[in-house]
Amino acid sequence: MEEKSTARKRLDYEDKLILAPMVRIGTLPMRLLALDYGADIVYTEELIDRKLLRSIRRENDVLGTVDYIDKTDGTVAFRTCPREREHVVLQIGTSDPARAAQVARMVENDVAGIDVNMGCPKKFSILGGMGASLLNEPQKATDILRKLVETVSIPVTCKIRVLPDLEETLGLCDALASTGIAAIAVHGRTIEERPQHPNRNHVLKQISARLSIPVIANGGSKDIQKHSDILRFKKETGCSSVMLARAAEWNCSIFRKEGLLPMEDVIKSYLKHAINCDNPPSNTKYCVQNILRELQESPLGRRFLDAQTLEQICQVWGLNDYCRSKSKEFRDRGLLGRFQITPGILDKDNGVSYKRKIHEEEDVSLMRCAFLRNSYVTDSELPKTRLLKWTKENHKKIPIYDTRQENKLFCSVVTVDGRKYGSSFWEKNKKWAEQGAALVCLYFLGIIDEKSLAAGGNILS
Ligand SMILES: Cc1cc2nc3c(=O)[nH]c(=O)nc-3n(C[C@H](O)[C@H](O)[C@H](O)COP(=O)(O)O)c2cc1C
Repeated sequence: MEEKSTARKRLDYEDKLILAPMVRIGTLPMRLLALDYGADIVYTEELIDRKLLRSIRRENDVLGTVDYIDKTDGTVAFRTCPREREHVVLQIGTSDPARAAQVARMVENDVAGIDVNMGCPKKFSILGGMGASLLNEPQKATDILRKLVETVSIPVTCKIRVLPDLEETLGLCDALASTGIAAIAVHGRTIEERPQHPNRNHVLKQISARLSIPVIANGGSKDIQKHSDILRFKKETGCSSVMLARAAEWNCSIFRKEGLLPMEDVIKSYLKHAINCDNPPSNTKYCVQNILRELQESPLGRRFLDAQTLEQICQVWGLNDYCRSKSKEFRDRGLLGRFQITPGILDKDNGVSYKRKIHEEEDVSLMRCAFLRNSYVTDSELPKTRLLKWTKENHKKIPIYDTRQENKLFCSVVTVDGRKYGSSFWEKNKKWAEQGAALVCLYFLGIIDEKSLAAGGNILS
């Protein structure tokens, strides 16, 4: 890694096509796809300052990524890579100048810019003094931006919504621009307005005419179906650049000058990035769902909805072999993914190979099995229910679960007929940890076969 970011080319916001920040959508695979299709700048989803501050930075040699791992549960809070380093803007949710500055300093060498979310109307943000609540607290908003500008040498921006009153909106923009930020993104709807309301393009035009810094137009997706619509939106708003959220979420190839690609091509390209980034299946599924939209009701859509693992998702588009061989390659090269995360790893700032034993006893029949809740339609099929039934029918004592919690992770061992069985996979909740242990027990007792085990749990090496 380079020592100081001053040696780097400074990101500019003139005449750029930008992928907007989108929670859960704007993770690494989607950002890389947007870059493939011609986006110049890609924003991350909003990341809350406190979450980033409790994460540790890891260079992931297997994937070639830089990971910020949440110490409390082992999840990747932010994953980035050299390919996007000069294009990625990390958006933070914050209500505090000092915390914002601390985050910015921490990620400065891994990203091209920092953005502050000042437009999110969600309850969580407003109650936390973040997002759109900053629109009503210009002093706090400008304090945060000033502190960021003086702390880091990469550009700082913010993303706002318009206020109901034009003069107030212009006054707010003046105040924000005076902090030394490099650009401002404006969504042309008020906090109360929903996506179906028209975007106030005339207000964006007035803001861009007034400010000397680049203004990024946002909110136009409803009227953007093809690439030329982006240019029309830019012209209509007089802004320097255009930022797209929903239009890119639905079909990311909207960034292509050559025209839109069929949805199937976009999904396949997205999945390849998801595989290469070892993206969590749940996030991958969510993003594909938002590309498929109403097609989820089709036979292909239903097959997709039934899929749970990354390989099962990929199978729907014939990419299962690619997925399997990549996963094997990553495993062989020692990838330490979410599945291998144990609290022991997270306790230490260095030495990721350190693993704590889950249960010290030697006599536990263990498997590393991640419980797949969606595989079970009725409660009677659940492993714990089946195990309890089996013990009753065979006149054994009822199963006793010994579940351990460390940080926010859970791991369980079940005792049945004097013997112990468990899953060494650390689940994110107690119920699933116990179901995982019961599933392993059912398998060892011969109540279910290997096929049923694999259908109900993800067996990890
Ligand atoms: C799924 C989704 C997630 C979003 N998450 C964020 C976010 O994390 N930060 C943010 O500033 N705006 C967020 N937004 C708002 C968009 O960035 C954008 O302002 C809005 O959708 C209007 O732009 P569009 O017409 O291009 O969709 C989100 C929007 C969507 C649809």
